Amino acid sequence: MMNKYTKQQIAFQKKYGDWAIVTGASEGVGREMALSLAERGLNVVLVARRVELLERLSETIKKEFNVQTMVISADLSEISALKSLVQSTSALNIGLLIANAGYGTSGPLINADLQTELNMLDVNCRALLVLSHHYGKRFSTQKKGGIVLMSSIMAFQGVPNMANYAATKAYVQTLAEGLHIELAPYGVDVHASAPGPINTGFSTRSNLKMGAAAHPKTIASDTLNALGKSTTVRPGFLAKLLEYSLKLLPRWGRVRVMQLVTKGMMSH
Ligand SMILES: NC(=O)c1ccc[n+]([C@@H]2O[C@H](COP(=O)([O-])OP(=O)(O)OC[C@H]3O[C@@H](n4cnc5c(N)ncnc54)[C@H](OP(=O)(O)O)[C@@H]3O)[C@@H](O)[C@H]2O)c1
Repeated sequence: MMNKYTKQQIAFQKKYGDWAIVTGASEGVGREMALSLAERGLNVVLVARRVELLERLSETIKKEFNVQTMVISADLSEISALKSLVQSTSALNIGLLIANAGYGTSGPLINADLQTELNMLDVNCRALLVLSHHYGKRFSTQKKGGIVLMSSIMAFQGVPNMANYAATKAYVQTLAEGLHIELAPYGVDVHASAPGPINTGFSTRSNLKMGAAAHPKTIASDTLNALGKSTTVRPGFLAKLLEYSLKLLPRWGRVRVMQLVTKGMMSH
């Protein structure tokens, strides 16, 4: 029987299979990551709070790609949920962690609800640290694997009106850069994906109006294609364009440009 996978897909399976965990798989980039991984022949653990969306995605994946799935309903801001995610996946041969779940808020920090900002810190940073620590250890023992940490173009300077969100992404970016070097000797690939605006549920939750925005499918495939090749990938055309246009500015200048950008996105 002919193998239905390409050479690249088989190499991907060998390096990052048999199972991948995708956090934030119910919508947006995470959903597209899960689909793209299933297409490459990996079984996928789908993690988010909205279990009905995960169940529907699981059915689609099993029907279209003939791989296995596991659905885990978890609020990643809770340590107990992280512990049970780790336990539920202990018997699976996990080779890839896509730490994608996250959200943003907008507006001046002093007007924000502090509990929401603390929760964002827990989802965007603490959960990602706990999972990177656990699966980083597992992957280094098995001498193969990959970790994708979802950063943002916001990670590279302060961002007025999204100050805490940008700070969480600076944490993610910095963590990825360090782990990239630490885990390389064990054959484990770590990279940060730093997209620009994407057309997802993110804008509703952060109450921002997106102008030009990339499709989450592009972000997922560019990110997965770059795994093992660089420390940071700027997926999609917009992220690259924004990188080049901001590159020559000093850091304080980038902060000012970001102030204008977020002001525009908040006026709706
Ligand atoms: N959209 C953009 O413009 C943009 C740009 C750069 C970077 N990013 C980053 O890309 C990642 C994906 O965002 P997206 O654009 O795909 O947004 P999205 O469509 O809103 O998806 C966010 C995902 O995160 C999950 N999530 C949120 N809070 C959670 C929690 N407490 N516990 C478990 N899961 C949780 C959501 O699932 P449930 O609600 O079902 O729990 C959802 O699946 C995020 O880290 C974001 O910061 C986005």
